[in-house]
Amino acid sequence: MAKTPDPASQEIDALLDERRTFVPSDAFRASANAADGAVYDRAAADPEAFWAGFARELEWIEPWSTVLEWDPPNARWFVGGKLNASVNCIDRHVRTARRNKAALIWEGEPGDRRTLTYFDLYREVNAFAGVLKSLGVTRGDRVALYLPLVPELAIAMLACARIGAVHSVVFGGFSAESLRDRINDASASVLVTADGGYRRGGVVALKQMADDALEGTPSIQHVVVVRRQAHDPLPVSMQAERDHWYHELMAEAPLRCEPEAMDAEDLLYILYTSGTTGKPKGIMHTTGGYLTGTYATTKWVFDLKEDDVYWCTADIGWVTGHSYLVYGPLANGATAVMYEGAPDWPARDRMWEIVERYGVTIFYTAPTAIRAFMKWGTDWPAKRDLSSLRLLGSVGEPINPEAWMWYHEHVGRQQCPVVDTWWQTETGAILITPLPGLTTLKPGSASRPFPGITAEIRTADGQKVEKGGGLLAIAKPWPSMLRGIYRDPERFVAQYWSQWPDGIYFTGDGAKLDDDGYFWLLGRVDDVLNVAGHRLGTMEVESALVDHPDVAEAAVVGRSHDIKGEAVAAFVTVREGVETSDTLVDVLKAHVVKKIGAIARPDLVLFAADLPKTRSGKIMRRLLRDIADGKALGDTTTLADPAVVAKLKDEYEDEEG
Ligand code: PRX
Repeated sequence: MAKTPDPASQEIDALLDERRTFVPSDAFRASANAADGAVYDRAAADPEAFWAGFARELEWIEPWSTVLEWDPPNARWFVGGKLNASVNCIDRHVRTARRNKAALIWEGEPGDRRTLTYFDLYREVNAFAGVLKSLGVTRGDRVALYLPLVPELAIAMLACARIGAVHSVVFGGFSAESLRDRINDASASVLVTADGGYRRGGVVALKQMADDALEGTPSIQHVVVVRRQAHDPLPVSMQAERDHWYHELMAEAPLRCEPEAMDAEDLLYILYTSGTTGKPKGIMHTTGGYLTGTYATTKWVFDLKEDDVYWCTADIGWVTGHSYLVYGPLANGATAVMYEGAPDWPARDRMWEIVERYGVTIFYTAPTAIRAFMKWGTDWPAKRDLSSLRLLGSVGEPINPEAWMWYHEHVGRQQCPVVDTWWQTETGAILITPLPGLTTLKPGSASRPFPGITAEIRTADGQKVEKGGGLLAIAKPWPSMLRGIYRDPERFVAQYWSQWPDGIYFTGDGAKLDDDGYFWLLGRVDDVLNVAGHRLGTMEVESALVDHPDVAEAAVVGRSHDIKGEAVAAFVTVREGVETSDTLVDVLKAHVVKKIGAIARPDLVLFAADLPKTRSGKIMRRLLRDIADGKALGDTTTLADPAVVAKLKDEYEDEEG
């Protein structure tokens, strides 16, 4: 039977055929925060003056003497300046009419709601800063935060910033082992966690996971536990002396806690992200430059206005949540929506229900979510009033033009600019992006570097590519750039500053430049996967697999997936005498989840007689990707036959070298 064509997709095909571009409307341009195109040239002529202009909009305790000291790869921005990030995100708003403005509008997955005004946030952050101090936390100490997406997470981050402690947020979806490794790498002295959090109707038992982690974390002195549900508390075991209830400590907390005067270059936070080895990297961000970068980009890219209701759907466990749910919007005095749970709970219009309920005006999400919305169909957004929306954003992976168009049509009613923002944990803030009042949009392209940013395409040996494809490089320092990898300066140099000389930053992404100088991002060129917008190292998953006693060797590659973009495909050779079976597939998947977390669960586990390697011993990843995508082998069970693997190797070897 012939399939009835989906009218929505036909419509989109027609639009794509025209290679349409989208020019900002006159109305949008007229009131845009960035409305003068000359800003690009001005910023390029004097990037330091450009950034200093934004930095001056923040509140400084002491002014800086020099904007930038650049001794590649070490940058110091706003040298000598002193400030406090929590003061910039809260205190300075509390002194104005924003005092009673909603800072955070929070909704839990079960439907519970809380709104915190700037003054509420001020009180909570002061109190928790006092609590941390009473637990012995001082300037420079590391505090690990392992929480669901609840206001206490933002409160704890800002409380750390207030007293000069360094926060290290660990995404609540990571396993106990991942948490333990991150706590140990940072030698955190306090862990803040919760009894649990809600996800797709179930409970994630965070404290239980934390308890497992805490068996091997000698640096931890105290654990603070947020009670997520007052009425129906989740069962937890509390260890006397070490474990404390958040609400009990807060009841005794002082009203005020003086903010520390932090140096612009003092560490604000560490955030672990995946790289090309089995061990995640602790990316370091400092106070003055990071705050300037996130403040500036939030203001211009999202065109943030006083009365906007801004919603970034990312979890704070990732950099997007740090920069665009906490520091960027709060530094701008915005109202930010925060939602704890899944987009399809209890139904597939939960996101649109939230947009409708709070009159969200700016909506920032990931292509993987947009592709899921597409699959669920247009009825879900059509059911809700989305007329409050005026700007849409995308982040985390390349957005395919079909998804862009669908987002523009069915969420944005063709009225909202879509800003596709490229950046990384390392860059701290958005680097390549449209400015919605200025940029002609091309679906699928992140367009141009933000003013003051020098992005280039280079060949592996450093030649600049004026048009066409290559490796994405950032040629000049920027304020929110990473300052290093925690306790691993050599890896910092090797990873980012060794591809090319002279302080040119290697992003790890491929990209191409079109005739108009627009950047089209092409994904990672290293062994880093992007699964549903989440970064994952192939080596991390391989290490988790070979940790299982039945596994002799493992190779992991990305497999294309129509919603997640990429999914994990694992090729495994088992130890002698081990029988392969469907049960073993499930066991190995569960083992990866236990070692890393659910985001790393392999989509596909294939047993191979041996792993195809080149003569020089490199795993033939392109062959494995083709097998995983169904291009190289019809029947993957034949992988267990050594003759088949040998034949495929011959076919691919010449190409892979
Ligand atoms: O490959 C790029 C992709 O995500 C990587 C950074 O991942 P992470 O540090 O986890 O930060 C994600 C959120 C900023 C990049 O190296 N990426 C991110 N945004 C885009 C993107 N790829 C294409 N287009 C984007 N807009």
